[in-house]
Formats: sequence, C-alpha cells, structure tokens
Amino acid sequence: MVEMGEAIIVLDEVYKIFGPQPRGRAFDLVRSGMGKNRVQAETGHVVGLDDVSFSVNKGEIFVVMGLSGSGKSTALRTVNKLHDITYGTVTVDSTDVQALEGSDLQAFRREYMGMVFQHFALFPHRKVIDNVSYGLKVQGVDKKAREEAAMKALSLVGLGTYAQNFPSELSGGMQQRVGLARGLASDPDILLMDEAFSALDPLIRRQMQDEMMEIQGELHKTILFITHDLNEALRIGDRVCIMKDGAVVQIGTPEEILTKPATGYVAEFVQDVDQGRVIQVHEIMQKPAPISAGVTLSEALSTVGERSGAFVLDSAGAPTHILTADDGIRAAGMGTTDLGPALRTDFDRCGPEDCLNTVYAAAGRGLPIAVCDVSGKLVGNLDPRHIMEEMGRVEHLIDDFEREVFM
Ligand SMILES: Nc1ncnc2c1ncn2[C@@H]1O[C@H](COP(=O)(O)OP(=O)(O)O)[C@@H](O)[C@H]1O
Ligand SMILES: [Mg+2]
Repeated sequence: MVEMGEAIIVLDEVYKIFGPQPRGRAFDLVRSGMGKNRVQAETGHVVGLDDVSFSVNKGEIFVVMGLSGSGKSTALRTVNKLHDITYGTVTVDSTDVQALEGSDLQAFRREYMGMVFQHFALFPHRKVIDNVSYGLKVQGVDKKAREEAAMKALSLVGLGTYAQNFPSELSGGMQQRVGLARGLASDPDILLMDEAFSALDPLIRRQMQDEMMEIQGELHKTILFITHDLNEALRIGDRVCIMKDGAVVQIGTPEEILTKPATGYVAEFVQDVDQGRVIQVHEIMQKPAPISAGVTLSEALSTVGERSGAFVLDSAGAPTHILTADDGIRAAGMGTTDLGPALRTDFDRCGPEDCLNTVYAAAGRGLPIAVCDVSGKLVGNLDPRHIMEEMGRVEHLIDDFEREVFM
C-alpha cells in the first residue's frame, strides 16, 4: 500500500507515437531529439508523448496543463491503459499498468480509477441516480449497494435531492456534478479528470473547482486533472505539469510555476494569470517582532527598525495597536517621548494562508497588516511594500520575457 504523499502514479520515460509503425524511424528520430512537428513532416507519424516522466503522489491534485494537442489526454490515457505506449513504463501502486490485459485490466480499472470527462455524456433516458450507479451496475454490484453508493456520491456533490430527476432537468453545471458523482461512486483511490470543467462558463466553473477542492479535503483522493487553462491549473493543483508538443516543460507547485517559469513558453502562459491568487501571505510575511508593553517611543521605534510598522500585543498575543514607522518618526520629530499617542488601532488583519489578492485592498492603505492565526494571535507582519514587490517581481519576469521574444 502506498502511503499518503508517496508516488502512486508514475510515468517513466514514456513515449507514444501514433501511426502505422510507432517503433520505427519516427521513434528513433524523437529519441534523437527531433521535435514533434519535424517528426510528423518526415515520417507522417504523430508524437503523442515525448519522453514524459512524472509521478503523482497519493492524496494530491496533480494537474497536467497545456495547449490543445500537447499530449495531456494521451498522458492520462496511459494510466488506465486506454492507450498502449511505445516505450517506457507506467505504474500505479507498483502495478505495471501496461502489462495488464483482459479481466485483470478491468479489475484494476474498477478498483483504482474513477473517470470524469468533459464529453462523458449522461444517458438522457436514465434518472440521475441510475446514471451515477451505472458503472457499478456494469460491474455487477447489486441494486441496493449501488444505489447506496450512488446516493452517497450524489450528496457529496450536493445533488442528493435530484436523484430521481432526469439529466435534462438539470443545468449544465449540475450535469457536470452528476459526472463527478459518477466518477466518485465506486469510491476509487484515483480520479482521472480530463477537461472536466472546461465546457462550463467561468462562474459555474469556479464553483465546481471550489466544490471539488472541498470534496477532496474530505476524501483525499489522488486526482490527475487535465486542463488547458493555467488559471484553473494553478487554482486547484498541488502541483502542475506543463506540457508542450508531447513533452514535459516544467513540473512544480503553482508558486514555482509563477515565480520561476522554466522557459519562455511557461512565462507566456503565466502572464495571463492573476498572481495574487496563488501566492499566500505566509510566503512573504515577516516575523512579527512585537513592541513590548511599557516601552518609550524611541525604544518602540528601534523595534520597528527597517519594518514599516510593528504591533503591540495583549496578554494573549493578539495585536491591539500598531506603531507605523511614519507615525513614530513624526511623533518623535515633535519631541514626544510617550508611545501611547503615536499608536493607532485601524490596522487590517489576515490569515497566513490567505492569498495575496485578498489583501490587496488592505495593502493599498499602506499600513502593515497583522497576520493572525485562528486564535487571533499575531504570527506575522505583512508589509504592503512586500506585497507590491512580490507582484512586481513577477511582472518583471514577464516583461523580460516579452523583451526576449518581441525585440
Ligand atoms: N488516436 C490518435 N491517433 C492519432 N493521433 C492522435 C490520436 N490521439 C491523439 N493524437 C495526437 O496526439 C497529440 C496529442 O493529443 P492529445 O493527447 O489528445 O492532446 P491534448 O489532450 O493535450 O489536447 C495530438 O497531436 C493529437 O492529434
Ligand atoms: Mg485532451
């Protein structure tokens, strides 16, 4: 048994060539480093996967992202052997998937995999519950057990009350939730989701993403999720794998992809993304360095030091007041030695896991923001300058990239 956080799906040096002679000259050319387009021009064979290696850890959402034709679906389909591969190995929980045949393969898919696809249409003449339990029916699960499993999956996606409706009575978003419930019905370890939300309009899509992450928080499935939308990838992925022309370009956390794009190609995608959404407060906050009770203004100012402000705490460690560097210096300039009158209380608070975009407005006031844990204790000091710098750093990366490409 693979433990949480350990690799459960592993693709190792996987090649997939489409055409009459996949192991012929096309394969040799790809292996020698020739790109997809030239291989196709020279041999008429299509390079689906070009030396793809990645591993998905148990319990994570691993997103494969790339433009149409980059090989995402092909990669996903090697995991349940909807595709044979030309070279390499694919293992799931230490099973060599590509070696499975017939009933072993079916049993393996049934035990491990749930699938949710964009165009995995519901049966229009079956009720929602029968759509959800259909896979279990095919597997020979008895009626009572499969209906229980289907109801459980439906209530997970918030559609328990629609079990007896027909798909046409549901909105597009709800239908896609039925699709998700169908994927979850057999309680698989692994969910394979190929552009599952891509047909939904943006608002519904975000709701679906949120819901999926909520469900994931409860069930801790391993999710291999495919999308052509980087925003979606960065929003839901624990890690993101970017593909181009059948090859892996970069694998990293959303933060790594955004702040250290491996190539211009990744940077180009990144420029469309709202950075603030994925960078969290704790990544750029400073240690709190609170001001002790009863100190003088000049002592407090030396605590503030290079920061733009520091907080005074109550006995429970919660911030009550702030001394900003500006206020302190102004008060000292007027000859005050007393700390009290220089303090203010109109500061903002946020949590360490909040994303930067949610603190933009507060940062705009120019005051340091108190980063507090759930009990209200001060855990960090968020300087608005650092928020701007962080944003600026990414802007800069993108500018550099544009210069490289367009000049
Ligand atoms: N069955 C197939 N026969 C021939 N070429 C295929 C087949 N399936 C996919 N391809 C080609 O392989 C490449 C990768 O396709 P795919 O994995 O579907 O891309 P994506 O899911 O990223 O849009 C594309 O060039 C596509 O045309
Ligand atoms: Mg696809």
